[in-house]
Amino acid sequence: MNQHLPESAESAEPTGAYRRRGPFREGDRVQLTDNRGRLHTITLTPGEEFHTHRGFYRHNDIIGKPEGTNIVTSSGIEYQLMRPLMHDYVLSMPRGAAVVYPKDAAQIVAMADIFPGARVIEAGVGSGALTLSLLQAVGDQGQVHSIERREDFADIARANIEIFFGGPHPSWDLSIGDLADVLPTVAEPGSVDRVVLDMLAPWENIDAVAKALTPGGVLICYVATATQLSRVAEDLREDGRFTEPVAWEQLVRNWHLEGLAVRPQHRMVGHTGFLIMTRRLADGVEAIVRKRRPAKGAYPVDEQWSEEDLGERIPSDKKVRKVRRDVTAHRDELVEHTGEDSGQDDDA
Ligand SMILES: C[S@@+](CC[C@H](N)C(=O)[O-])C[C@H]1O[C@@H](n2cnc3c(N)ncnc32)[C@H](O)[C@@H]1O
Repeated sequence: MNQHLPESAESAEPTGAYRRRGPFREGDRVQLTDNRGRLHTITLTPGEEFHTHRGFYRHNDIIGKPEGTNIVTSSGIEYQLMRPLMHDYVLSMPRGAAVVYPKDAAQIVAMADIFPGARVIEAGVGSGALTLSLLQAVGDQGQVHSIERREDFADIARANIEIFFGGPHPSWDLSIGDLADVLPTVAEPGSVDRVVLDMLAPWENIDAVAKALTPGGVLICYVATATQLSRVAEDLREDGRFTEPVAWEQLVRNWHLEGLAVRPQHRMVGHTGFLIMTRRLADGVEAIVRKRRPAKGAYPVDEQWSEEDLGERIPSDKKVRKVRRDVTAHRDELVEHTGEDSGQDDDA
């Protein structure tokens, strides 16, 4: 049951919707933006005042006003008022662990096809950022079961989620423990539609995930480094119960918009993480392995890294000899015509 809400409003609307539309109400979070783009976020409380070095204003003057209103402080400074969108909230909410950025959460929801009514397992919950997007996507008829090994992080996530939705979400369960131990106790084999893993070592849980997922179900993992990505991919292939994995990253570049100066912004978030996705095959079915010609040495036995291990094309000695011959001949020709000698030796 959502706290702070009139029962009629709660029953008439999907969870959290009441908090995100209509005139400002008591308990709403409001984002105030000044003319330099600086933000303050407040929770509307009757009788309270918000003081800044640029004057003060009363919460009562905001309650009842529509979103998109401007207010002027006692010192004449203007602020624009909006409810924070989910991505604003995620980037400003308290964190225990690092959060999945909204751009990646959007990819996860879209690419893993998190649908209304879906049964989703998520681990770990961290600060609950991704959980918000998952809950929003499955809606009140779905189910998100989050598993987190750290109780302190779980508490932070629970608080963040309840603040955002205005109370507990009816589709959310949270268990404390390791995914591999907890998952078999909370999901019947073959009953889960989607699994989302954001943790250090997702490969440790492939067996538990394979047992829980329904045929055709999706596993998507968010990892920070290329070495994790490689390990997940190889272990999924080795397991044999999954389709050939696909991996990608998403770069978002914001644009500066001012008169004729319309161009990408100079700064951007260069790296957050990689996504890797696969689907559960029916029992007893073997993955169709895509025909590919891995570079010789792409799967090293002795872990000695070489260009070959990384799939780089190594030119043959013959090719290198030819390039060398051609380029030095070209240089000699130029010297003959211009009479200039760079003074460098061919073998240098
Ligand atoms: C980067 S955080 C997750 C952040 C979260 N997705 C968010 O958007 O806020 C990774 C979390 O996974 C948890 N974790 C790591 N391995 C786990 C496991 N095997 N089972 C459950 N939780 C695990 C960690 O304690 C940590 O809280």
